[in-house]
Amino acid sequence: MKKVVIFNGSPRKDGNITTILDTIAQGVRDTGAEADYRILFKMKFMACQSCFACRIKGDCIINDEVHDALQKVREADAVVIGSPIYMMQMTGPVKNLYDRLYPLMDTNGMPRYGRKKFVAVYSQGSDDPSLYRSYFDYTAAMYPAYGFDLIDTLVCTNATDPEAADKNRALKQRAYDLGQSLVL
Ligand SMILES: Cc1cc2nc3c(=O)[nH]c(=O)nc-3n(C[C@H](O)[C@H](O)[C@H](O)COP(=O)(O)O)c2cc1C
Repeated sequence: MKKVVIFNGSPRKDGNITTILDTIAQGVRDTGAEADYRILFKMKFMACQSCFACRIKGDCIINDEVHDALQKVREADAVVIGSPIYMMQMTGPVKNLYDRLYPLMDTNGMPRYGRKKFVAVYSQGSDDPSLYRSYFDYTAAMYPAYGFDLIDTLVCTNATDPEAADKNRALKQRAYDLGQSLVL
């Protein structure tokens, strides 16, 4: 069975990232594939401690909820990470997650655990969908080293309104279709 791991980096239980990621998960599950859905703001996990044990072991030595998720990511066919934009960047827990995924990269900067389809999802208060394009591109530069093949970047604008994504039928359809395409 194909597996997708989805990380929600929003503190809002019913916000826009949640709407979009729930819709992607539904698309995945409707194909019969597995969607492993994790809410970072509910997880207890440490920031990377820079011990570099993962350089030797290929695994993180911190035994917490991100360690558990990391094992799932290693086996996954696809990964989705969603974050609201706070102060022109991803939220803190999402940045901490990206750091903790460091074991996915070997000492030559190559992926240790194969290639996976990847979708980035962002929500932003601004109504300009291209405002943070350079930041999204800059962030995407790390993906090849983790084995993440970027399939799409979804952006929900006007997201101060927690229902912006729910009102955007085209965005929700795109999210559902993406969920299916990740596993078909
Ligand atoms: C601390 C903070 C900083 C924010 N900074 C920005 C920003 O730099 N640019 C922007 O467009 N929106 C900004 N916003 C608005 C958020 O992006 C918006 O509320 C968020 O995308 C809602 O996400 P959610 O409903 O998916 O949780 C900020 C919101 C907060 C709480």
